[in-house]
Amino acid sequence: MAKTNRVGILTAGGDSPGLNAAIRAIGKAAIGHHGMELLGFRDGFRGLVEDNSIPLDLERMSGILTVGGTMLGTTRDKPHRMMFDGQVRDMTDTAVANYRKHGLDALVCLGGGGTAKNAIRLSKAGLNVITLPKTIDNDVAMTDATIGFATALEISTEAIDRLHSTAYSHHRIIVAELMGHRVGWLTLGAGLAGGADVILLPEIPYEVASIVDAIRGRVKRGLSFSIVAVAEGARTADEHRAYMAADAREDAATNPQEKAVAEAELLRLDAAHDEHTLQLARKLEELTGLESRVTILGYVTRGGTPSPVDRLLATRLGTAGADLISEGRFGVMVAARGDDTTPVPLDQVAGKGNAVPVDHSWVRAARHVGTCLGD
Ligand code: F6P
Repeated sequence: MAKTNRVGILTAGGDSPGLNAAIRAIGKAAIGHHGMELLGFRDGFRGLVEDNSIPLDLERMSGILTVGGTMLGTTRDKPHRMMFDGQVRDMTDTAVANYRKHGLDALVCLGGGGTAKNAIRLSKAGLNVITLPKTIDNDVAMTDATIGFATALEISTEAIDRLHSTAYSHHRIIVAELMGHRVGWLTLGAGLAGGADVILLPEIPYEVASIVDAIRGRVKRGLSFSIVAVAEGARTADEHRAYMAADAREDAATNPQEKAVAEAELLRLDAAHDEHTLQLARKLEELTGLESRVTILGYVTRGGTPSPVDRLLATRLGTAGADLISEGRFGVMVAARGDDTTPVPLDQVAGKGNAVPVDHSWVRAARHVGTCLGD
């Protein structure tokens, strides 16, 4: 097998704590252990297309283990649909040409589900690609964990802990909105660990009436405050039905007009959803008579230093990635599996996602400790 010696690396999609730790792990192992050379592309796939790169040596791998964000920068750009010269273009050939121009033998893409889709396209275009799963959402298929989730879980749990004391002192409902895109791992994990009284997830459409019942039940027991942890993607049962119907209409559309109508409806529903947490808090105030407040955690969850768990995960996955490259194994994501790592073919990851199973042990545990899940 030919020895791989020049490796490109990029970070794509939303940033997450632990990306620098992963870059460091790949870099130290690739350069220091396997004797390879490393080239970083800035701002995700855009850097590969625009040939915006920096050589990375062992010195540049120092001091970044604990630093949040990504030293390479990131964007959500896709090579096959990239805004370029004022137009959306397929820049796959340019990405391939730049890879060849630099004499690369492999490209490491650190990203989530979207990055796996982009990576598979580049892989089909002839590049030797591997990916590492990172996202605070934990929504990547076929891996036990994603880089960034553990830190986001810690930050979110601490926020819920802190909200408790002020909610209790003021006899208020505090509705805390957490990130997670279309899945509820972060909200469920932090809600459970932080003892939220109500946890609302995209996977379990909710009825406002059942939340009101739960809060009234608490008031009867002398508990005049409540913490509601709501995922940014959570919907009421009515919203969920409307969304599913529009989605089905889009899938079943037999002509461009029907498709456009269904797409417009999906966009309208998304826009209406933007303020759902504020609307929920208003409704709860109206229906329970308790003052309600909203806290949207947002990007705080993604920023800052990675937790030890994420540093360990990033280091395990990164060094395993460098080993795979040295063995010439490509077209895979380096997945966390128990205490070990395993390569998973990209076609088993791309477009698959990882929603919370409604019978997951965390869901069962939440129900058993009396948490209202809104259903
Ligand atoms: O995927 C990570 C994430 O933080 C999601 O939780 C959130 O929905 C999204 O990114 C926000 O995206 P952006 O950074 O593009 O605003």
